[in-house]
Amino acid sequence: MNIGSKVYHYEEIDSTNLEAKRLSEQGAENGSVIVADRQTEGRGRRGRIWESSNDGNLYFSLLLKPDFEVQKSSMLTLVMALAALKACEKVSDTKLQIKWPNDIVAGGKKLVGILTELNLLPEGGYQVIVGVGINVVKQDFPEAIAEIAVSLEEASGKVIAKEDLLKEILAGFEELYLQFCKDGNLGAMVEEYNGKLVNNNQEVKVLEPTGEYTGHALGINEEGELLVAPIKENGEADMENVRKIYAGEVSVRGIYGYV
Ligand code: BTN
Repeated sequence: MNIGSKVYHYEEIDSTNLEAKRLSEQGAENGSVIVADRQTEGRGRRGRIWESSNDGNLYFSLLLKPDFEVQKSSMLTLVMALAALKACEKVSDTKLQIKWPNDIVAGGKKLVGILTELNLLPEGGYQVIVGVGINVVKQDFPEAIAEIAVSLEEASGKVIAKEDLLKEILAGFEELYLQFCKDGNLGAMVEEYNGKLVNNNQEVKVLEPTGEYTGHALGINEEGELLVAPIKENGEADMENVRKIYAGEVSVRGIYGYV
């Protein structure tokens, strides 16, 4: 398998994640990349829309057909977050951070979003589509996200070629992915990931479907779960009852806002 050995490019498509699924049904190979200049139905996490009308930005999806157990596939989001962060840092020469599990932020604002979708295949096995949206060029963001969004050009003051950025991400992802497949976990990446984690050693608000609480974030473990020590009534972190937070339904915020 070679990541990006086959690249499907569109000027405009509904969503590269949707197109990846369609192409897979027509036999597209493991490691294929689907990239579009614009999306008419760009999809974000939790059913949100990913604004995709600016063709200076990068919108792409990676189609993967892994051999490992399906339960491990959600960790691929974190693998992509680390690969995308390293590539964005390299091409822009700017330090960036990750907001667990998979947003990349610059100066507390969101630069990259990742939507990982899983499809069980009728013939058995499964596929994972990792969709990545990156704000590359300076732009006027829609009012609803203007306060929390930023572009790589704004963050770095540099003009970035999105084609170069894509190449860097795919090369970096392949390296991390092969390591992940070998280890079956994120062990080899934990230190680097935690070093980039904006929430690390910070107080966070954990929003669960059943309620919310404040805790002290301690970084991820090798399964990609965020370790959080709840804050006791006396204001101290309860290190005896550290919780493991699994991305799915839970979201984590800084206590004062988005990060
Ligand atoms: C998020 O909500 O943070 C995730 C956003 C993911 C957007 C990307 S753009 C390319 C791919 N195609 C989609 O429809 N969504 C993802």
